[in-house]
Amino acid sequence: MKQNLCTVVSNVEVMPDIHLMWIKTPNIACSVLPGQFITVRCGDFTLRRPFSVHQASPLMGEDSGEGEIALLFKVTGKGTLWLSERQTGEGIDILGPLGEGFSIAPTKSGQSKHLLLVAGGIGIAPLVLLMQYASSQHQITLIHGASTANQLYPSALPKIGPSSAGKKRSKLSPLPTGVQFIPVTEDGSMGKKGMATDILPDFLDWADQVYACGPLEMYEAMAEMSLPALSIAEGRSNLKLRKCQVSLEVRMGCGFGACYGCTINTNQGLKQVCRDGPVFELDDIIWQEVRI
Ligand code: FES
Repeated sequence: MKQNLCTVVSNVEVMPDIHLMWIKTPNIACSVLPGQFITVRCGDFTLRRPFSVHQASPLMGEDSGEGEIALLFKVTGKGTLWLSERQTGEGIDILGPLGEGFSIAPTKSGQSKHLLLVAGGIGIAPLVLLMQYASSQHQITLIHGASTANQLYPSALPKIGPSSAGKKRSKLSPLPTGVQFIPVTEDGSMGKKGMATDILPDFLDWADQVYACGPLEMYEAMAEMSLPALSIAEGRSNLKLRKCQVSLEVRMGCGFGACYGCTINTNQGLKQVCRDGPVFELDDIIWQEVRI
């Protein structure tokens, strides 16, 4: 974990109220793992705001001095509004990388070849970095659910790559080649009509590991699906969903385990989302007690 004064490389509104910001921060880019997050000091606000890392370039390796990370964030309050107004060349104060991210079983063990990723809305943010890491060795299906088509992961993003990567890289899609993309919208304006969790069970027999990031309601629906009694009653293979990693987004104070402001109750006892997570096993969390 390091505190860095970093430079904004680009900041573009890629969907309504959703910004993609590339930030030059070599020592975070070379060390961040999928599912980890950073905190940003937003103007004069006392509390730093947490953001999952959306992309990194280059991926983990040597600090070339040129590394960048991307944040994909929604403007939801004064802190994110401040961040959305930052211009290219401005400096921002970042702390990270923080927390425990996703774990991927090696393909050698034969346990994890097919990865199913489930995103609800802006929950797509950390799953793109996970795809960047895993796509060379795993087959990936991504279900992205949103309220309407213009909230789905946009085709505009491929044109806004990291500056250091040059023209060729900037044209690449942030969804790695070979990823099967399944859009779902509540109003049916693109892809299947409904919620991501409506079609999730169709892929469980295929998936070796499941990863999810989205709103609390999505997790609650998934937690219900993972109950053995329900799975048997419905004749589904939902027991696989019990081995699902979810990324929690909760209000944070310090971001590194000092204030206990992000404590949740789990089957393993009290845990701090910022230090023990933000990634947890779906069936470890006592969902009735989670407040986001
Ligand atoms: Fe302070 Fe997690 S935010 S302990």
